[in-house]
Amino acid sequence: MLISREMVLDQNIGLNETLFGGDMMSRMDKVAGITSALVSHNRVFVTVKVSELIFHSPVRAGDIIEFYATITRAGNTSVTVQIEVKVYNPVSNARKDVTSGEFTMVAVDNSLHPEPVLWKPDMLKHAKDEHEARTAGEKKPRPRKG
Ligand SMILES: CC(C)(COP(=O)(O)OP(=O)(O)OC[C@H]1O[C@@H](n2cnc3c(N)ncnc32)[C@H](O)[C@@H]1OP(=O)(O)O)[C@@H](O)C(=O)NCCC(=O)NCCS
Repeated sequence: MLISREMVLDQNIGLNETLFGGDMMSRMDKVAGITSALVSHNRVFVTVKVSELIFHSPVRAGDIIEFYATITRAGNTSVTVQIEVKVYNPVSNARKDVTSGEFTMVAVDNSLHPEPVLWKPDMLKHAKDEHEARTAGEKKPRPRKG
């Protein structure tokens, strides 16, 4: 699911004239929280684990970044969200993978104790269908040798 599009500004740029990695992680963490809220009736999610965070390619000021989320695990009190971030060029309509990571979010009550996730099955199905449709277009057959 495309969760959001954002613009990278000069103020987000770190020492190497590229987006500060911590800034990207913060944006992805918020997207994981939004995604968890979209597929459930729970009010609050907290991040318990971040894994396989990979910065594939640098991001620069002026870039438009897109955040795509896929539910990779629907647990009892937790949800695992795979996030893919792409730079989108509206002139060429091209997209480039820049960052990916897996976020595990836990639904919590007012006392910050885990509570069961109240799933929205229609949203889970929508997220799955949308992911399959999008990645089918990305999977190009490998050229045969010989
Ligand atoms: C998230 C938190 C409430 C979980 O508490 P806990 O006592 O470990 O809870 P539980 O053992 O009942 O586990 C709750 C869920 O988290 C999952 N979980 C716990 N630790 C995990 C880990 N290290 N990796 C992956 N999942 C984990 C469990 O598998 C369980 O999911 P499930 O019910 O779908 O199977 C607690 O660890 C916490 O408050 N952490 C700090 C959160 C925080 O401040 N985040 C940063 C700001 S948002």
